[in-house]
Amino acid sequence: MKVETFSTPAAVARAAATRIARLLKRRGRPVLLLPVGKTAVPICRELARLHAAGRAPFRRATTFNLDELRVPPEDPRSFRAFMDRHLFSKVDLDARRIRFLRGDAPDVARECARYERELAREGPPDLALVGIGENGHVAYLEPSRSLPPTTSLVRLSASTRRGLAADGLQPVPREALFEALGRVRQRAAPVPARRRARILSFVGCKGGSGATFIATNVAHLLAEQEGKKVALIDLNFQFGDAALYVTHRVPARTLADVADEAHRLDASLLANSMLQVLPNFHILPAPEDPEQALRVRPESIDPLLEVAGSAYDVVIVDAGRTLDDVTVRAMDRSDAVYAVLQLNLPFLRDAKRLLRVLTSLGYGRDKVKLVVNRFHKRSTITLQDLQETLQHEVFRTLPNSFDAVTASVNQGVPIFKLASRDPVSRGLREIAGTLVEAKKEAGGWRRLLSR
Ligand SMILES: Nc1ncnc2c1ncn2[C@@H]1O[C@H](COP(=O)(O)OP(=O)(O)OP(=O)(O)O)[C@@H](O)[C@H]1O
Ligand SMILES: [Mg+2]
Repeated sequence: MKVETFSTPAAVARAAATRIARLLKRRGRPVLLLPVGKTAVPICRELARLHAAGRAPFRRATTFNLDELRVPPEDPRSFRAFMDRHLFSKVDLDARRIRFLRGDAPDVARECARYERELAREGPPDLALVGIGENGHVAYLEPSRSLPPTTSLVRLSASTRRGLAADGLQPVPREALFEALGRVRQRAAPVPARRRARILSFVGCKGGSGATFIATNVAHLLAEQEGKKVALIDLNFQFGDAALYVTHRVPARTLADVADEAHRLDASLLANSMLQVLPNFHILPAPEDPEQALRVRPESIDPLLEVAGSAYDVVIVDAGRTLDDVTVRAMDRSDAVYAVLQLNLPFLRDAKRLLRVLTSLGYGRDKVKLVVNRFHKRSTITLQDLQETLQHEVFRTLPNSFDAVTASVNQGVPIFKLASRDPVSRGLREIAGTLVEAKKEAGGWRRLLSR
C-alpha cells in the first residue's frame, strides 16, 4: 500500500481531483465510488473547476455513493442532495448513471438488494474515494463494528450524529442505508490471486469451423492424458453447445448464474457452478437463451477469468464466432487465440477479416495461432496460398475425418476415446502436447530469468 500525506485540505483536494480527472480522461467508461461529507467538498470544488477547464469529463462516467440517510432524495439533508449541490449539478454526468440508495425506500431489504445488483453489474469501481470520520467511521461503518456482509440499515452512533450536526445537517436522521464496506473493498481492490493457468481462446473464423470440437477435445485431453486441471468456458451465446461434445451430463447452472455473482466469485463457487466432466475437467456452459445472455456483462469476465486463472492449470475459452465486448474481454486476457478455419474461399475471406480485427486489438503475431481444420493435401487452395494471403503462419492442421468426428459429436464422447488412432485424434494430441510444452518453456524462461 502506498500512503501519501498532504499538509492541507486544499492539497489533498488537488491531488485527489487530479487523479480522478486523469481517470475520467483515460478510461472508456469509468466507474467511481464517491463519498459525502466535509472532506469531499473541496475535492468536488476542485473537480468542478477541472471540469469547467475541460480536464475532467464526466460524460461517460458512472458514480456510486456508498450511503444515504433515511430521508427522501429531495430532502436537502439527503446525501443525494449533497452530491447534486456540490458535484452533480456542476459537471456533465449523465443523470441515468448516478447510482444512489433511496433513503425513503419502504422496503429496505429490497432496496439494498437492488443496489447490490447494480454494484455487481457495473463491475469493480475504477476508483473509490472514501473519507474517514472523526470517530473513525468509514461510509457509516461505525468503528468496532464487524463488517456487515451486505448493504444494510445501520443506526448511527452518537458521535457520528454529532459530526453530521456539525456539518449543518439538522435534524440528524438516526439511520442510514449503508453499503457494506467489505463488499466495496472487494470490488474496489480485488486482491489479485496468483494466476497459474494458461488461458487459451478458440474462435471460429466463421460458423462451423470446428472450433468447439477442437476446444472441447483438447480440453479433455489435457485433463485426462496430461493430468492438468482444466476449465472450459463457453462464451458462445447464441449457439453454446460445448458441453454436448464431451458429456451427457445436464448443466444445472450456466455462465449467466456465475455472472450474477461475479462480485463474490471464488474458486469454490465457480467449481460448484460448473459441469464436472471429469474430476479435473469442468465446463461452464453458455447461457441458455438470449435473455440469460444479457446478464453476462463484459465486466463479469475479468473476475471470472481471474478466479479460474488461479484455480486451474489451463482455462480454455470457446469464444464462438462473434466478436463482442464479452469475447474480446476474454481474448484480451488470453495467452493465445486459436483462430480455426478451413481451406476454402469463404473461410479465407473471413479469416482475413478476423486477423485484421485481432491485429487492431493489439494482439501480436505470436498470440494469434491459425489452425486449419479438415485439411487435405489435394485441396485447390494450398497451405502456402493461405499463408501468403493471410500473411500469417499456420500453427497446426487437422485432417478431415467425417465418420469418426461425426460419431464423436453425435455421441458426446471425445474422439480419442472412440477412435484413438484416427488421424484427427493424433492431431488433437499433438495440439494438446504443444500447449503443455508452451507452458514448460515459459516456466523454463522464468526460471532462467530469476536466477
Ligand atoms: N476434422 C474434422 N473432420 C470432419 N468433421 C469435422 C472436423 N471438425 C469438425 N467437424 C464437423 O464440423 C461440425 C462443426 O464443428 P464445430 O461445432 O466444432 O464448429 P464451430 O466452429 O464450433 O461451429 P459454431 O460456429 O456453430 O460454433 C461438427 O458437427 C463436426 O462434425
Ligand atoms: Mg462452436
